[in-house]
Amino acid sequence: MTERRKILVTSALPYANGPIHLGHLVEYIQTDIWVRFQKLRGHSCYYVCADDTHGTPIMLRAAQEGITPEALIGRMHAEHLQDFTAFHVDFDNYYTTHSTENRALASEIYRRLLAGGHITRRTIKQAYDPVKEMFLPDRFIRGECPRCGAKDQYGDSCEVCGATYSPTELKNAVSALSGAKPIEKESEHFFFKLGDFGTWLREWTRAGHLQPEVANKLDEWFNAGLQDWDISRDAPYFGFEIPDAPGKYFYVWLDAPIGYMASFKNFCESDKGRAARLRFEDYWGKDSDAELYHFIGKDILYFHALFWPAMLHGSGHRTPTAINAHGFLTINGQKMSKSRGTFINARTYLNHLNPEYLRYYFAAKLSSRVEDIDLNFDDYAARINSNLVGKFVNIASRAAGFITRQFDGKLGDTLAQSALVDELRAERDVIAGYYDKREYAEAVRAIMALADRANAYVDEAKPWVLAKDPARAAELHQVCTTAINLFR
Ligand code: MSP
Ligand code: ZN
Repeated sequence: MTERRKILVTSALPYANGPIHLGHLVEYIQTDIWVRFQKLRGHSCYYVCADDTHGTPIMLRAAQEGITPEALIGRMHAEHLQDFTAFHVDFDNYYTTHSTENRALASEIYRRLLAGGHITRRTIKQAYDPVKEMFLPDRFIRGECPRCGAKDQYGDSCEVCGATYSPTELKNAVSALSGAKPIEKESEHFFFKLGDFGTWLREWTRAGHLQPEVANKLDEWFNAGLQDWDISRDAPYFGFEIPDAPGKYFYVWLDAPIGYMASFKNFCESDKGRAARLRFEDYWGKDSDAELYHFIGKDILYFHALFWPAMLHGSGHRTPTAINAHGFLTINGQKMSKSRGTFINARTYLNHLNPEYLRYYFAAKLSSRVEDIDLNFDDYAARINSNLVGKFVNIASRAAGFITRQFDGKLGDTLAQSALVDELRAERDVIAGYYDKREYAEAVRAIMALADRANAYVDEAKPWVLAKDPARAAELHQVCTTAINLFR
């Protein structure tokens, strides 16, 4: 047995302003499979996550519903956890970024970055809603596309022609909140000086922590130059106030990844964490010998491969062992879409279909690469029917009936084909290697090849023929016992 590894794993923290959908589940199922595998191998492995609760959309949605943001995020937390649990995603801790632990950690990290000279302030101009009396994120400004003239487009990009621009370029811009014409207003913002970590980051991103295609993408970003990152937002904002800066709040993306740490800290202090003598410092301290993995989607790489390692390094913490990025889910070859009816919530799926089928289907398609994966309904039905049911479950179902009816539900103590059972077992290290490298499609392919061999054995041994001859009961018992062991 190899050394017992100490592993901490996270999935990205889903926003608390919407339900879990099938796209999200690619990530949580991918991560959960990996964590279960590491636990089965006898390693110490913890899987933590949380709801991402701060920011303008959550604040506005709560206002719309006439409830407090706290009430909204409380309800979403319960719904998210129910959905994850139904899909057998088994977190060791599922917390929230709106916690005392996260507030303390975010403030502490900020203080250390400030002391290191990595925070700067300057005054910027931004769109402001004079009626609602608040600054407007780009998404809350609507107007005509400066390129094609399409009406009612977002402040950052046009859905019709695909142009990207700044909200000041929009024609006849209005606030999506009040309909008022936004004005330009000045305000002082806080910035994290990402450029301070340029040299360090260039090395880090080439040191095996990222998939090769991600490292290449990062080169483009390095060549474009590392900009200061705006980490503050003005009141009203649902989030944490910045220490010694009344009316200024941490931008949601500042405290979101710190939510990984906060969830783990909360777990350390739980009954389970205490029983396991978990210590926060052993996992997040500079000299940690634990492995730390973040599973994320390709859309949030910039935050996880640049800002996050720089923040950790700059504040005297350990940095991630690896960032494992996956692609996006498409449905029948296209982006999920509400109008096409392919924007499927986790709950909707659960009302109709078995969650294990989706886990199997995603596993059969996932690799370690950042490629998109497609959920095609015909392919889904075919793979579940022919592979999962027709091959895999079939092995057990062809033998279990006889065992139940003729042998009192008990297996025999001898095998008809112990060599075949050994042969199948001998594949374990190859399959384990695929799991460890996140090559699940390869693992499933290898497992299905074994299922074919097991089925071929049953075809040959013909238990249904043996069952007709009472004189061959002992043989039947051996054959069915062998089949069940091949299944196991
Ligand atoms: N709140 C941020 C993450 C903060 S992590 C410190 C966020 N939330 S999200 O709800 O939009 O997405 C959560 C995860 O689900 C992300 O890793 C994202 O890439 C993933 N996915 C969301 N939609 C997806 C698909 N359609 N397909 C695959 N993954 C998708 O981003
Ligand atoms: Zn346009």
